[in-house]
Amino acid sequence: MEKLVIEGGRPLQGKVRVSGSKNAALPILMACLLPGGEVRLRNVPRLRDIHTSLRLLNILGCETEFSGNEVTVQVRELKTEAPYDLVKTMRASVLCMGPLLALKGEAKVSLPGGCAIGARPVDLHLKALEQMGAQFELSSGYIHGRCNGLRGAHITFDFPTVGGTENLLMAASVAEGETILENAAREPEVQDLAEFLNAMGAKISGHGTSVIHIQGVPRLHGAEYRVMPDRIEAGTYLAAAAITGGEVVLEDCPCRELDAVLSKFRNMDVELEERGSDLLVRRSGTLRGVDVTTQPYPGFPTDMQAQIMACLCLAEGGGVIEEKIFENRFMHVLELVRLGADIRLKGRSAMVRGVRSLVGAPVMASDLRASASLVVAGLAARGRTDVLRIYHLDRGYENIEEKLTGVGARVWREEE
Ligand code: EPZ
Repeated sequence: MEKLVIEGGRPLQGKVRVSGSKNAALPILMACLLPGGEVRLRNVPRLRDIHTSLRLLNILGCETEFSGNEVTVQVRELKTEAPYDLVKTMRASVLCMGPLLALKGEAKVSLPGGCAIGARPVDLHLKALEQMGAQFELSSGYIHGRCNGLRGAHITFDFPTVGGTENLLMAASVAEGETILENAAREPEVQDLAEFLNAMGAKISGHGTSVIHIQGVPRLHGAEYRVMPDRIEAGTYLAAAAITGGEVVLEDCPCRELDAVLSKFRNMDVELEERGSDLLVRRSGTLRGVDVTTQPYPGFPTDMQAQIMACLCLAEGGGVIEEKIFENRFMHVLELVRLGADIRLKGRSAMVRGVRSLVGAPVMASDLRASASLVVAGLAARGRTDVLRIYHLDRGYENIEEKLTGVGARVWREEE
């Protein structure tokens, strides 16, 4: 396994280009099961999860090509089983359920299993699809879904689930009649999926609000589409510039979709200046502490919780972080403590006290955003930090060493 070695203490200076969004590209790739014609996607990030999704599309009977940041998908002979050895590595595979049920009346998808940040069931997906006429049985670790065609329904989610909303958007786009999704997720990535489905001829309106209307159509056609930039990757480099006291320009930064994050960092006395589609991040004084509570969009995103916690470790007065979305998303805390942070956990809250400095040490990555927070902290820590099991990071951060060395960080990859 590989590790990332970081010589910390150097303020970042320069430009970082934000890549395409992992969490928009994953559902959009599953939606490529739906049309008859070819799909061409641009601005697709080269990440492990994207390669995994393309392998799943191949297993489900699609021809795919991935060169540079462009993907083409052409459905040949649709199959309906998503195997365990693939689904266990990527929970988002469950997003093939909606398209397969809608088109083939059948889907056999391995239960995603838990992951480092919690149980993450898919009960809300299944309950909503049952309202559209699907029936499910769980046997030997697989969810087996069947239906005689899906019919539009009026669905209210108990929780604004991102994946659940995405699965239902895809299923409803080619179901019989109208579907209404209430308490739907409003995340920008959900909106990007809806825009892509509409580019293929779907009739979706209200995406970005809590009530989405979908008028089913018989079949979708091929399309070309550019995936939105990754707001969480952008937020991660913003945190890295803030914690190191540098000055960095984020190119192609989705500022509007990062409102809650930008206002938190402004409260921490980080200067943020929007320049067209770029964002200038500058921190010259001391970081001021803030309190953070993660919420569904447009609230503060849970995917930025670990990264802002790293910054709070060095902020005057520290802050309290409440994680309201996942039941176990503090795996980075003990590793940050190894770097000298002062953090106390109490249920789903973390009390962070600002310390004067962090000191480099070997630390262990556990999930994607926990790894990102260890890298952010390592960039500010004095001396050397080795972040082990860096494969977690490769799931969501394209060319991370190149991007960081491009703004003056001393970072390289080694065998553990
Ligand atoms: C998406 O996961 C993202 N992943 C996650 O990003 C992100 O943290 C999450 O949304 C919340 O914003 C992708 O888009 C690929 P949910 P998803 O369904 O769809 C519970 C990253 O780091 N729940 O909104 O799984 C669930 O257990 C990843 O890029 C149910 O109980 O999120 C969780 O506690 C991590 N039953 C909460 O809701 C269900 O049927 C949020 O889940 C579905 C969800």
